Amino acid sequence: MQALAPGVHLHPGYLDASAQKALLEEIRAVVAQAPLYVPAMPRTGKPMSVRMTNCGALGWVTDKERGYRYQATHPVTGEAWPAIPKMLLDIWDDVANFPLLPQACLVNFYSADAKMGLHQDRDEQELGAPVVSLSLGDDCLFRVGGTARNAPTASVRLGSGDLVVLGGEGRLAFHGVDRIYPGTSMLLKNEGRINLTLRRVTRGQI
Ligand code: SIN
Ligand code: MN
Repeated sequence: MQALAPGVHLHPGYLDASAQKALLEEIRAVVAQAPLYVPAMPRTGKPMSVRMTNCGALGWVTDKERGYRYQATHPVTGEAWPAIPKMLLDIWDDVANFPLLPQACLVNFYSADAKMGLHQDRDEQELGAPVVSLSLGDDCLFRVGGTARNAPTASVRLGSGDLVVLGGEGRLAFHGVDRIYPGTSMLLKNEGRINLTLRRVTRGQI
């Protein structure tokens, strides 16, 4: 385990090749039920370059009119999100050090030219639980800083199977993805990267 910033820990190679394949199959099943869609930024309605879906009781969504939020249904199909695969719940149990299970798993798909600007994950009421983040597919350049936007940042290349935990002091650390390195992994059929983030949303026992 490697500290990238206070409270931000990288577990390189957390999932071996066979576990990555098994998890990818689970995510394919999620996406078959809850298709990836193009999220839009609050107010401007500018489309994000990352495509998204979710599994879990709650999913993180964003659109022009209502902005960032959690909701129980897919914004395009109107259906409830599929359940979080057991494999992900077990991973949370292993690394989160939190007594309750995650309620939301955001699935981000990055094509070769997608990126994500520096931001904090702060739409959750429960900030005592960490954010657990897994990478599958092509490498990316991940950037993480402190809890102020202008704090110095560190950059690290994340590969398929790597896991990052943002907890404690690092729960509100600014982070983002500057670029994808297309063609660096054979896991997916085509180029691209999948990122999964597990989160608790509400406070208490739900
Ligand atoms: C996110 O912050 O939602 C995604 C981070 C990542 O893709 O590694
Ligand atoms: Mn985030």
